Amino acid sequence: MADPRRSADPPTTARQAAPEIARVLIPRDAIARRVRQLGEQITSTLTAAAAPPPFEPGPVVLVPVLTGALVFVADLIRHVPLPLSIRPVTVSSYAGPSTTSAGASVQSAVPTDLGGARVVIVDDILDSGRTLGLLRRLIAAQEPQSLHVAVLLRKQKPGGRAEPVAVDFACFDIDDHFVVGYGLDYDGLFRNLPDVAALRVPGA
Ligand code: IMP
Ligand code: MG
Repeated sequence: MADPRRSADPPTTARQAAPEIARVLIPRDAIARRVRQLGEQITSTLTAAAAPPPFEPGPVVLVPVLTGALVFVADLIRHVPLPLSIRPVTVSSYAGPSTTSAGASVQSAVPTDLGGARVVIVDDILDSGRTLGLLRRLIAAQEPQSLHVAVLLRKQKPGGRAEPVAVDFACFDIDDHFVVGYGLDYDGLFRNLPDVAALRVPGA
């Protein structure tokens, strides 16, 4: 399939067909199985990351990156049976009907009280690495007790990532094409699709 990002010119006429699902890449039952496994791994890792006595184990804080991580984090937390809190941040990278990254900008307050906490940043997908690179730096500067990154999808980038980011937990590695569903969108749509699917952008 052609990479839609190479030729994603904006629609030129009102009659242009809307993007549609080309094929399901990861069905919902495979997602459910893998999210459960990842939750179990995260639980063990966070348990091991707790500072030993006489120190206090830091609170567990999940930082989902909205809006894309909304569905993933909702399912994930039900497989992490630890006392935890959720402190979402909103980061914007794509404006409107675009499938290329325009760089990351934080659109909401980043929690500033993460010093000593066991933090997991949760995002839908690692693409260029700019979003997670930025957040990782902002949170690491607060000196949490531990800091991990979890993603649903990690896109392979044969040419290398704009910003290499260490991801500790990834459900699936996928090829470098544009995907939607299970929280991921195209121009705000398709987030409610229960599967992860490849998109066909007309004219691409
Ligand atoms: P990065 O900063 O380039 O790594 O992009 C990360 C953000 O871009 C993700 O959190 C997604 O919101 C969005 N993104 C990247 N690739 C895709 C995709 O294939 N489909 C939908 N959104 C994507
Ligand atoms: Mg995102």
